[in-house]
Formats: sequence, C-alpha cells, structure tokens
Amino acid sequence: MLRIAHRGASSEAPENTLAAIRRAIELGAPWVEVDVQACADGLVVIHDETLERTTNGHGPVADQPLAALRALDAGHGERIPLPREVLDLCRGRCGVNLELKGPGVAPLLLPLLREALAGGWSSRDLLASSFDWTQLATLRTTLPQLPLGVLTEQVNEQACSVARAVQASVIGCALEYADAAAVAAAHDAGCALWVYTVNHPQDLARLAALGVDAVFSDSPAAAQL
Ligand code: G3P
Ligand code: MG
Repeated sequence: MLRIAHRGASSEAPENTLAAIRRAIELGAPWVEVDVQACADGLVVIHDETLERTTNGHGPVADQPLAALRALDAGHGERIPLPREVLDLCRGRCGVNLELKGPGVAPLLLPLLREALAGGWSSRDLLASSFDWTQLATLRTTLPQLPLGVLTEQVNEQACSVARAVQASVIGCALEYADAAAVAAAHDAGCALWVYTVNHPQDLARLAALGVDAVFSDSPAAAQL
C-alpha cells in the first residue's frame, strides 16, 4: 500500500506546513496530502475554514487577505504555505495530493495545475481531490490530463458514477467504510481506493489484506508495513 502523509507528517510537525512536508520526506513518505482553501485574494494551505485551531489568527480564512494570513504563525513559527510552495518543495521528492477544501478553489488553482502538468507533473506524482464533486468537474473540463480523486465517506453508487464521469483515478473513502465491497466498487469504476485516516497497525493490516491501494496517515513512519 502506498503511504500518504496526511497534512504532511502531521503527528510530528504542525499540520499543513512546509515543516510537516519536509518531515514526511525525511520519513520516506512517497506522497503528501495537503488541504487548499480560498482566502480573500488567493489560495492557502490550511484545513479548517477558520484560523483558531491551527494558527494564532482568528476568524474565517475566506475573509482574510493573503498578506495577513502569511503573517500568522501556523505552529513552531511556520507560515501558512501557498500551494505553489508545496509543489516546489515536493518536486522530485514525493507526490502531492492537493485537496480542494472550500468553495471557489478550483478556478483559482487551475493556473498552477496547468503549469504543473506542463512542467512534467503527472499521475505518478500529482492528484487533485475533493469532497466537492462540482469542483472536480470544473477541473476536468479545463484540464483533461489532470489526475483527479473523488472523496467520499462511503464508496456508493453516486461516488462511483461521479468518478466515472470525471475520469477520476482515485476514490478516497473513510476508514470506517473501507471493506471488500468498497475496494471492488472503486476498482470497477477504474479507480484506486485510498483510505483516510489510518494510524493504527491493526487497521493497516486489515486494509492491506483487502487490497486497498493507499492510506492517508498522520504518521507515515507508522504506516510503513
Ligand atoms: O483526503 C483525505 C482526507 O484528507 C480527507 O479528510 O478532513 O483530513 O481533509 P480531511
Ligand atoms: Mg485533507
């Protein structure tokens, strides 16, 4: 199974920071996953809609200008990264899964994704994913070569049908719904099944036996089987 460092090596460094990504690379994670949100005038790498949990800022991310967000502490003196910084850091070192987390990310992310594909990123090392399937459709319309991941809790008929429609290469589902039927349904839809968030050895062993293709783990070292 492929190991994906969830929000970087988020058990060892502040989540969704360049420090967490550096640590994931040090630990040998072949892929990292980060979350992308729109702010008032650009895109930033952060999970929550609001700043309180992971930074020393306050209020909704969407309301704040980039300059103000970049002045915040995202933990241990780290800045909130830009998606471009993540790609620059990971290029040639590990794959990158950019999760489109809030509304309005797809149109803003398109230029960077277009540039990445033109610069040699491919399904070997790039995936754009989202629970918001309309944003995946937007990306697919403009970028036929972009590797896409359909995020869902359960691998149900609707998720599989969207995966087929947008020609996704990955379906991501929640650990509690990852079973043999989910693996079969994802594979029938032409997708790999990636499972979030997997931090315990007994879950890893179960998923490996099921034929799950990848796991998102906060601790990529612990996810090494
Ligand atoms: O992409 C898998 C996983 O990251 C989805 O959940 O909330 O951790 O972004 P979340
Ligand atoms: Mg995520």
